[in-house]
Amino acid sequence: MKIKKIQNLDNFTGTILIPVFETTAKSIVPIEYNEISVYSQVFYGKKDTHYIIEKSDSTHIFIGLGKELDYKALKTIFRRIAAKQKDVFGKNVALVVPESFNNNQVEAAVSGLLLGTYNLGHYKKTELHPFLNADFELNYIAKTDFGETMEKALKIANAQLETFALVDLPPNRITPEYLANWTTETGKKHGFDVTVYGREKSAEIGLHSFLSVGKGSAREPQFIIMEYKPEGAKKHIGLVGKGITFDTGGLNIKVAGMVQMKCDMAGAAAVLGAMKLISDLKLPVQVTAIVPACENSVDAQSFLPSDVIQSYAGHSIEIIDTDAEGRLILADGLSYLIKNYKPDTVVDLATLTGSVVGTLGYECAGLFTNNEDLSKRLRDAGDKIGERLWQLPLWDAYTPDIESEIADVKNYSGKPVAGAISAAKFLEFFTEKHTSWAHLDIAGVAFGDDEFAKTKHATAYGVHLITNFIERL
Ligand code: BES
Ligand code: ZN
Ligand code: ZN
Repeated sequence: MKIKKIQNLDNFTGTILIPVFETTAKSIVPIEYNEISVYSQVFYGKKDTHYIIEKSDSTHIFIGLGKELDYKALKTIFRRIAAKQKDVFGKNVALVVPESFNNNQVEAAVSGLLLGTYNLGHYKKTELHPFLNADFELNYIAKTDFGETMEKALKIANAQLETFALVDLPPNRITPEYLANWTTETGKKHGFDVTVYGREKSAEIGLHSFLSVGKGSAREPQFIIMEYKPEGAKKHIGLVGKGITFDTGGLNIKVAGMVQMKCDMAGAAAVLGAMKLISDLKLPVQVTAIVPACENSVDAQSFLPSDVIQSYAGHSIEIIDTDAEGRLILADGLSYLIKNYKPDTVVDLATLTGSVVGTLGYECAGLFTNNEDLSKRLRDAGDKIGERLWQLPLWDAYTPDIESEIADVKNYSGKPVAGAISAAKFLEFFTEKHTSWAHLDIAGVAFGDDEFAKTKHATAYGVHLITNFIERL
């Protein structure tokens, strides 16, 4: 999609998008634009409504914005127009930017438009969305120049679209090796270094906890390390994303919801999308990211409940449940990152527990940290763009939940309560007492139902949140 500012619609024919804030219902004053009068009986800018009218060879879409709206609502409105009115778009589209729109609103609208091109039918013969044609141009009319903001909006949406695909594509395509190759290619394109350790090298380094989870899979585990080092960076952020390309539960096989477990690499996909976006935007912050990627499968080689395994940090772990595998790969990811790269702040993202879904539902992710400044920064970054977080405790009172008789720590309390918290306590044990670490349990928000598809699908939660957090440092 290319962006072009135009002065007026004099020589324009095509589809014209006219966002309208809500006027008083049933006003006798019609909404006027381009010699079109729209009467309030049919449209008055109410949120989530639109009105389409043909005039002088152009299709005019009046888009209702309501009285006031947040970033996410605005983005969704534009995504909806692009996704559901696909048939009325040709090569020429003009967006009439309302005078009151600020940069954030323009960003939300334009990235929403591009997200609307997403098609879940990856394996179907479908026509390309008109916006994705190489010569497609998005024209805009505005008092000020929004060129830079619009380019940024496209970068945000492109990173989110990549993340959608990584999560929605099936586990026989998105294997650990696929993730490693995707990362290597993206690193080459956007300028970050990528190192990948397979089974042998991971064993040599001592990533035993990570390797235990992948033992039952024919697909080789891949420990993916990304290093983005812009010149003059003063801050260094570390990221870790859970990359279970499919979670069968292992020998503690899942009895419910297994079919959705291709989403268990959504934390990894968020980190990968964020790395793409951060490097594409050339943000002046050093970022080191780790994605431990493997499949949790059932096999004679699988790790067993009651096994005691080792970890990179040198702590032994008693396996109570093989379905609590995410924390095992994150443990090695976190301690490897902290020991070898010493970032100022570490954030991990993981579809870690069903418990967080029971606690917070689908509205926000669970946030765990002992650093109040970091907590506030993350929550603020999320609130601005509609990827919300809610903090849950990490009190010492929960430590007995991970205490083992036989080993240094166990991977599950064995009790059906406070599961998201005890999982976070387990991760905390592997953060080497880092004073600025946060864990985001995104199990409820990474993959969900909405108006854009009949089945659950990726949301790309985290890509923009992490990027925005880093941008605001
Ligand atoms: N991948 C799941 C968590 C999950 C649940 C992700 C729902 C997305 C949606 C995780 O590995 C898991 O199985 N957790 C168990 C842990 C339990 C066995 C201690 C859970 O939360 O039930
Ligand atoms: Zn599991
Ligand atoms: Zn899992």
